[in-house]
Amino acid sequence: MRVLGIESSCDETSAAIVSGTGDDAALESLTILSQDVHAIFGGVVPEIASRAHLTAIAPVVRHALEQAGRGWADIDAVAVTHAPGLVGALLVGVSFAKSLAAARGLPVLGVHHLEGHLFATALDDRAAVPPFTALLVSGGHTMLLDVPAWGEYRLLGATRDDAAGEAFDKVAKLLGLPYPGGRHIETLAREGTPGRVRFARPMLNGGQRPGDDDYYDVSFSGLKTAVLHAVRDAEARGARDADAPHIARGFQDALIETLAAKTVRAAEAFGRTRIVLGGGVACNRALAAEIARRAAESLGAAAVHAPSPRLATDNAAMIARAGLFRLERGERSGYDLNAYAALPIPGLVAPGAARP
Ligand code: KG4
Ligand code: ZN
Repeated sequence: MRVLGIESSCDETSAAIVSGTGDDAALESLTILSQDVHAIFGGVVPEIASRAHLTAIAPVVRHALEQAGRGWADIDAVAVTHAPGLVGALLVGVSFAKSLAAARGLPVLGVHHLEGHLFATALDDRAAVPPFTALLVSGGHTMLLDVPAWGEYRLLGATRDDAAGEAFDKVAKLLGLPYPGGRHIETLAREGTPGRVRFARPMLNGGQRPGDDDYYDVSFSGLKTAVLHAVRDAEARGARDADAPHIARGFQDALIETLAAKTVRAAEAFGRTRIVLGGGVACNRALAAEIARRAAESLGAAAVHAPSPRLATDNAAMIARAGLFRLERGERSGYDLNAYAALPIPGLVAPGAARP
């Protein structure tokens, strides 16, 4: 089966071709057009995003087909992100996919964007398959899941306020760095001295027990406020530029330690030896390294699988791959397929008991 995937949920217009069966799926092409225009505004402007998708989508799909050396006769189905995301942006992809499917007589399938992120790493790392613990960290989402099998997702924890990427972007703004700020913070933090500026680890303490509702949840808005105070204090001393690397380092260390500790808790509780990362923040090398360090300490042989940068950030390859999985299970969407700003991941199972 060969699937054309389309992604337009935020500010990337993307198309990709994935072919194969089961976990033996290969990426034939991936085209991503990032809408740089939003950098001027310091965040994604929904109306501008929708219009930019509209002008980009046809050439992006054509490019993905050309790169794969494929024609329409080679495509068996169209998979498209239909939730969650900016509704106007999603509707461009959904309408385009439905029109294509109708014109070519192909099945169309709506894919949940976050299920896509769970499949992304498996495209270039054949070992990143269930059962695993998953940490999804992007600009819009922060979720910790247990994945016993594809299509079965146990949501263990999530952010109570800002997403991890959002916290990176807001702290970058406070430090005068460009948007999106995650990678700029990571670079600046490398020049900072660990512990020189120390922030409290949000929602992380040794007294937490499995079953407590803050055992897996995270929260970053307090950390962001603490950074704001540190920046103001540095400014008052005329030392913002000198302190910026240490503040970036202190922020990143606090955020990473919290995410890593909770991820390893989940892997331990469910007896998983694989940890799969997804979302734009998974590009952060320090995050993967800290999870690997903690996993080695408490789990022994656990392996951490982080996606390559182009598969970590929003892309259509992961949508095609998740679409392939659902198509193989016989699932199809109708021409009434709609776009939704928010929608639970399909296949959510009750958290249930951890390993005895
Ligand atoms: O998954 P993604 O491309 O889009 C969303 O669905 O949100 O993630 C984008 C987010 C941004 O917040 C960006 O700052 C963050 O990922 N990001 C990073 C790094 N690279 C991208 N955060 C921390 N460190 C990085 N190296
Ligand atoms: Zn995403």
